[in-house]
Parts: sequence; structure tokens; C-alpha cells
Amino acid sequence: MRTLLRALVALLLPVLFLAAAAPARAAADHVYDFEDGTTQGWSPRGDGVSVAATTGAAHGGAASLLVTGRTANWHGASLAAPFVKGVTYRVSAYVRLAAGQPAATIALTVQRTPAGGETTYERVAAATVTDGAWVRLAGAYLFTADSTDLQLYAESDDATGRYHLDDVVLAPQGDPTREPIAADFEDGTTQDWSPRASAALAATAEAAHGGTRSLAVTGRSASWDGPALNVLGRLGKGDKYDVSVWVRLGAGVDSGRLGLSIERRTAGTPSYEQIVPPTDVPAGEWVRLAGTYTLSRDVDFLSLYVESDTGTFPFHLDDFALTYVAPKPIQTDIPALKDRVPFTLGSALTRPDTFGVHGELLARHFNGITPGNELKWDATEPREGEYAFADADDLVAFGERHGMTIRGHTLAWHSQTPAWVFEGADKQTLLNRLESHVRTLVTRYKGRIAAWDVVNEVVDENQPDGLRRSPWYEIAGLDFIRTAFRVAHEADPAAKLFINDYNTEFPRKREALYALVKRLKAEGVPIHGVGHQLHLNIEQPPASSVEDTIERFAGLGVQQQVTELDVSVYTDFVSSYDPIPGELIAEQGHRYKELFDVFRRQAAHLTSVTVWGESDDVSWLNTWPINRLNAPLLFDRDLQAKPAYWGVADPSKLPPRVRRLEAPAGEVVLDGKRDQQWDLLPDAPIARVGEVSAGFQARTTAAGMYVLAEVADRSVSAADRVTFTVDGVARTVTRLGGHKAAARPTPTGYRVEALVPKGTDVDVTVRDGGTAVSWTGKVTPAPAVKLTTAAHRAPVLDGVAEPAWRAAPEIRTGTWIQGTSGATATVRSLWSGSTLYVLAQVTDPALSEESPNAWEQDSVEIFVDPGNGKTKGYTDDDGQYRISFSGRLTVGGTFDAAGVKDNLKAVTRAVPGGYVVEAAIALPTATLRPGTLLGFDVQVNDATGAARTAAVTWNDATGRSYLDTSHWGVLRLA
Ligand code: XIL
Repeated sequence: MRTLLRALVALLLPVLFLAAAAPARAAADHVYDFEDGTTQGWSPRGDGVSVAATTGAAHGGAASLLVTGRTANWHGASLAAPFVKGVTYRVSAYVRLAAGQPAATIALTVQRTPAGGETTYERVAAATVTDGAWVRLAGAYLFTADSTDLQLYAESDDATGRYHLDDVVLAPQGDPTREPIAADFEDGTTQDWSPRASAALAATAEAAHGGTRSLAVTGRSASWDGPALNVLGRLGKGDKYDVSVWVRLGAGVDSGRLGLSIERRTAGTPSYEQIVPPTDVPAGEWVRLAGTYTLSRDVDFLSLYVESDTGTFPFHLDDFALTYVAPKPIQTDIPALKDRVPFTLGSALTRPDTFGVHGELLARHFNGITPGNELKWDATEPREGEYAFADADDLVAFGERHGMTIRGHTLAWHSQTPAWVFEGADKQTLLNRLESHVRTLVTRYKGRIAAWDVVNEVVDENQPDGLRRSPWYEIAGLDFIRTAFRVAHEADPAAKLFINDYNTEFPRKREALYALVKRLKAEGVPIHGVGHQLHLNIEQPPASSVEDTIERFAGLGVQQQVTELDVSVYTDFVSSYDPIPGELIAEQGHRYKELFDVFRRQAAHLTSVTVWGESDDVSWLNTWPINRLNAPLLFDRDLQAKPAYWGVADPSKLPPRVRRLEAPAGEVVLDGKRDQQWDLLPDAPIARVGEVSAGFQARTTAAGMYVLAEVADRSVSAADRVTFTVDGVARTVTRLGGHKAAARPTPTGYRVEALVPKGTDVDVTVRDGGTAVSWTGKVTPAPAVKLTTAAHRAPVLDGVAEPAWRAAPEIRTGTWIQGTSGATATVRSLWSGSTLYVLAQVTDPALSEESPNAWEQDSVEIFVDPGNGKTKGYTDDDGQYRISFSGRLTVGGTFDAAGVKDNLKAVTRAVPGGYVVEAAIALPTATLRPGTLLGFDVQVNDATGAARTAAVTWNDATGRSYLDTSHWGVLRLA
């Protein structure tokens, strides 16, 4: 009886509002639509009541919640309400009576028990409902006293009435930074949009993305003039928002680019940021501009606007939406990474990263930071003598607040350096500018920034002296490096001064940097350390080459730090995934494990390891070298731990690793000697444990599968053995050999060869007493790797096949990657000094260069990898050299082809039925000698008009030669 009374009171009570405390942070809307066939947390209220998702009636979608079995007014459907103290919610729901029920009043009520008080019942909304239509119930709800047992429920004044409930939405209110903003112009007004300058805005029915109207923008006075929306007070500092708007060109405009930008002003000073860079809008199409934005500063003006990159053409805008993105809380039940490593663990950061969950993640896992951009020259001295330190100060203060070690990045670099620095500068002027800059920065942060990247990326291993031809070097030679270090040391003698570079794990760059540091140290330049950036990818390079680099520099008596670690999921500069396959993310976890195994083993030489960003959403690799989804870091876009995190924190939690290897057809002699066949491909690395590591390969033959293990293990013991397990059947070989096997000592350990049955699931385990290293994965058969020879002589480069060419064997392109017939070539190669010569005699009666794309013109491509590294993706000196029938040259390589772009010379000559290409390719990075193996392939592109209609290679059947060197054939120098 008492309960019934209470329920009745509740039904009659007006909405109850208490004085609002400062609104707390609220999450996104809670929506209950029952479309998944469950009750979505709603349960029966009262004995005998049942609630169930049903498709008998629905307001939106196909399902609703049906409430039956009621015998009292307060019976109904009830939800443990997710309301948060101090937050106002807009509550709405749709209700309809089950067929045949008489009209009734349905109410939404909240039951709650305040601490130390009596349970209360607060009505949120009520309305008269029939079985003929859905009725919307809507109201607001707020509570301000600590309370327990919060329930939101639906009740009816018809004690036995059955009803449907659908589309219940609990929307947190009250904080304007949480309110979505939308505009659709359907009401015929401009809905708070106003022109930035003199543009005219009007709601119009001439075009519409959704509904019947859009906003027409005409009469713009400049590319930046157009529609703007004042969002001051609507974006919380450090909060993330999704922004989206549809745009279309005005009638009669046939091309244009539109983008979404924001202008913010602090103390009157404006800054402009692009949320969506100007994007092509084809005539007559609606294009969506969508991006995210985080406001990271206090502002007194904030305006979102649509602009073009050039021109003042008219356009339409429609269906604008800005919504707060509620962050997922960071995990607090996982180990702090910094406690798991024997060195400082740092992260790069920029100002927005110091707020909210990003700031929490940084504080929890890292004890070092590097400002990602804020200390660079363009940020700190945009105009001569005009310094700007607000952002850098803020980040340094963040680091100090959290007891973090701070790295300063960077004092002298060729990138992100304003043009004025080099303008009109003779050597002395440039060095003076450098001196002022370095002295100002290092003095300002004296005693606070522990280590500086004094110079960044000054090495170019493709130059004879190993030095990058930057404006710094061109104007001042090595003296810019000497000056930067000297001045930095004078300004803060306690700061550790670093030379920082990328690709230091590649042997040629490693050696060039080594020689430079050695030289500078010998001169007495105060250089204390070497920074290895380590921008790696999922395949390259192996962790062992990182270890080789650290060991190499350990001999120089310098500190070392890993300064910018990330592991891209891409091996080339054009591919993109969305979503990124889970197996790559898992493989990346193993990559991080192997790298941190190396860092821990080398901890005596490493003072810190810094990742270039705390979570995937903030990585620079989402926009470099192209816009694409990337996931190179330890935490994902929601700041949750990835396998990469576990690879560092606790590798036992990693998913099992499944590796893949091709076993090309091939014959070897089982004698423990390394036949040339094995040298056609590199060994798949088996990572080091203790002092043991190994490499593995396989070949397919009629009788089974040849397997090879090259073991690095200097301590000889009777327990040393290699076990090959193929589809569950094991074969063990010792240093003395074994059944259908042979073994031989090598300078660093021993080599094992065996013939085992064919199979797919392969495990190779190398044991040394208690230590074991393994490779586990799938092996698949593949066609033989083709091998040809270059004869040792130099031709005259004139397009004529003089007799010298006859010394070389002839190969023929016959592997079709597009079409099944068309232009082909016979090819011969010569070499002399450090030059490779290639003669291609092409049969192609109809020649065309109509296409603007070089690969769609009749042409020959020569692929050369001086190290025969067979890497997925190009390394620095891998080249794709293309010569069109008329002699046009194009060269491809890594993203800027810097290491190979000047290597090609060629002469072409038309002959009856085709053309001849005679090419000379300089290979300055390799020492060519008889027996040297080069990665090599040739491709003929056959054009018809403006299209490529066929293409054929010598060896690579993948069609990916321009991205991936791993399937090129091999050229041996005679
Ligand atoms: C990157 C920043 O992370 C980006 O925000 C910026 O747009 C470009 O520079 N090597 C370096 C870093 O030394 O300074 C670069 O940082 C990444 C490559």
C-alpha cells in the first residue's frame, strides 16, 4: 500500500529541480532503441511484469520494448539510470499502447535514494497515450545530492495496461561544450551563420544535400570570405570534436577546392588552422568535408568557416554538424610502461596532448617528453629576433609538473626553418643568426631541458663526404655544426648535446654518421650523444641492425638515445588500409618486443628511448608522407593498450606470432657450404636471445624442402642443435650434421642444411644449452628466383648493340603482369667500375607517349637493388629506372628518390618494329666486383594511345615492382 501511494505521489509530483552545482563532465547521449533484440538493460519493475524486445511495433527501426503483465500503476520497465550528479539530462522516449488498450497516462519517473535520506520519486515527463500512434515523452532531469539506486522507469495510470517503449534518449545538457551544433537551413534562415567579410548568405531551395534547402554563398570578396559560425564558448579546451559539412559548387562553376578552417584569437592575435584542407569539389556533386578538432588554447574569438584555396566562386553548404567526442577513459589496471624499462621512456607531444585523457596517458606511462614542433625554428623565431615561446614554455612546464626529463628538439635543421634564415646570408651572417638562435633557446631553458638535438638530419650517405646538401651546409659547410654545438655548450654546460638522425640503423648511413661524430669529437666539438630517430616499419629493418648500430657507437664513447621511435604499418609510400588488418597490429607487437629486447640488452649504452607520440591518433604518420590511417605507436586511437604496448610491458601477453616465408623452387648441395642459391635471397632473421641468433631459408625441390639455418653462436657445445619441425614432424641436426643433413662451422657459429619433407607449418628452433630462438610460421612454395649474369666490359652508350654486348647472356621478358601479350624485350647486361649497363631490344610496332603518366607510355623499366636486400618497400639506394622509347627518363625510389635520382643515363633508338634502350646506371653505394649479386628486374610497358594495355617483366609476377623489391630477380656480376 505504502509503495503504491508513493508511486502515485511520484506520478503527480512536478519536475523537481534543485539548485545546480557546477556542471560535471558528462558523456555522450545514452540511446536505447532495442534494435539488437535485447532489452538493453531495461528490466521488469513489479512482480509478474515482463519486458521483451519485440518487432510487433517500432517507432524507429524494426523493434521496440513491450511491457506486459502489469498489475499496479507503478509497474513497468525500469533502467539502472546512468545519470551523473550535477548534470542536466534531456530525457525523451516514444510510447504507444499495445493494440486494443484504452488510452492512459504514461510517465517517465526517476527513483533515487539520497545519502542518509528517504527514497524519492521524480517525474520527468508524462503524456496521454493511445494504441493509435507513437507519442513523444520529453523532459529534463538533474540531481545534485549524492544518491544511490537510481532508476528511470515508465509507469501508467492504467494498472494493467500493456505498452511499447522505443528510442529512449538520455542527453546530458547544461555544458555548452557538450551540446552538438547542427545546421540544415530547412527553416529558411541562415541559422547563425554569417559572412566573414562581404559575402551574401541565404537559405535557398536551389540545391539541397538533405531536405529541400541549403545555404547559398555568393558575392565572396576573397578566397577566405564565406560562411562562418561563431563557436566561442562551444568548444572545451582539450576536448575533441567531430566536424562535418557538405559543400557543392554554385551553378556554372566547373571546378574548385573548398576546405574547413578555424580562426582563433588570443589577446587579439589571430591564428588559423585547417580542419579539412581544401579538397576537390567536382561540379554538380555534394562533397563532405569532415575532420576532428581539438582546441588547445584559451581564446577570445573562435570562428569556423568554409573557404576555397583560390578564387571567389559561389558555393552551397548544407547539413553542418559539430559533435563532442567523449574520450574513452585510459586504462588504469595495466602497468605503467616507465616502470618496465631500465632507461627514461619518453614521448613526443604537442600542446593538445597535455589535456584530458592524452595528458593522463602521458603522465601515467612516460617519464620523458620531447616537444614535437614547439622548439623548432619556425615555432620559436618566425622572424629574425622575434621569439615566441608560449607553446614551448607550456610543454616544458607540463614536463616539470610531472617530473619528466625534457629533450629539446631541435636547434638546427633544414626543415621547418623559416626562409629568412638563409635569405641573403653569407657564411658569417648565417652563423651569426644561428648563434643568436641557439644561445637564446638554450639559455632560456638552461637547467630545465636536459638534452638538445643540436643538429638534426645532417648526414646524407649518398654524398661522397656523407653530408647533406642543406642550405646550412651549402652556405656554411661543417662550421654550422661546430657553431651550434659550441654555442649550445656555452649557454648550458650541463645540457647533453646530441646529433640526431634517421636511418642510422642502415649500415651506410650508420657509417657516415659514425665518421662524422668521430671527426667532430676528435676536433673537440662538445658533442655528447647520438640520437637514433628509428622511424621504422613493420618489416624493415630487422631489430638486429638497430643493435648493430648501438654496438657500433658504443665504441665511440658517446651517449645514445632513441629519439623518435615509431613502427609504421606500411612498407611503401602509397598504400593505405582502412581499417588496418589486425594481424599487422599483432605483428607490430612482436616488432616492439624485439626492439625493446635490444634496448634492454643495450641499456648500458642507452640513456633514453622516446616514442614519437603517445597514441596512434596523434602520430605524424597519419599525414606523412601521405594522408592515410596509420597505427605506429603503443596505444591506439582510443588510447587503449595495443599489442605494441604488451610487446614492451609484458610480451607473454602477445598473441602468437605467425610468420610467412616463400620457398622458391631451387636445388642445393647438402654439404654445409653456402651455395649461391641461398644467396639469391636474404635469410629470414630469427631474433637474438642471449648470444644466440639465426637466419632461416627454404627451397622447394621434387624430393622435399631444403632448409638452411645460419646460426650465430660462438660457444661450441655438444648441446648445440637446430630442430626443423614441418607439419609436426621434427628433424634435429647438430654441429656434426644429421640424417639427410649437413653442418659446418662458420666464423660466428655454424651452418646447417637439411632436406626435409614438404609442408606448410614450419618451426625452426635453435638451441644452445638453456637458450632457444625460434621461427614459427607458414612456408609456401614459389617459382624459382631467376638469375642472370652481367659480363665485365663497358659499352659505348649510343643505342647500338655493338659486339661487346654479345659477351652477356640474353634474357627475355615473359612474366605478364598486365594482359597476356604485347611489347616484350630481350635484355643483356654489362658492368664496369661502379656502373651497370643494360641493353633492352624492344619489339613494339606501335609507339605512344600520349599518357601524362610515364608508366603508361611505351617504356622500359629497370629495377636495381645494389644490396640485393629483397626488402618489402624500397630502401635508399633501390631504384626504378624508366626510359621511354623516345628517351624520357623517370626515376623512382623511396618517397623522394633522393638516393637514386641522378643515377640514370640512357640513349634510345627507333628500329624497325620497335626500339632499343641502352642505359647506364651508376651504383655509387655498392662496391661492384665479380660475384656481386644485385636485385634486378626489367619491365616493358606497352601503351595504346593514352592507356597502358600490357606490361611484362622478367621475374617479378606481383605487379608491385615499383613498391616492393622482394620479388625482383638476381643479376650476378661476371
Ligand atoms: C614531425 C612532427 O611530428 C610533425 O608534426 C611535423 O609536421 C613534421 O615534423 N623527424 C624529425 C621530427 O626529426 O622533427 C619530425 O617531426 C619527424 C621526422
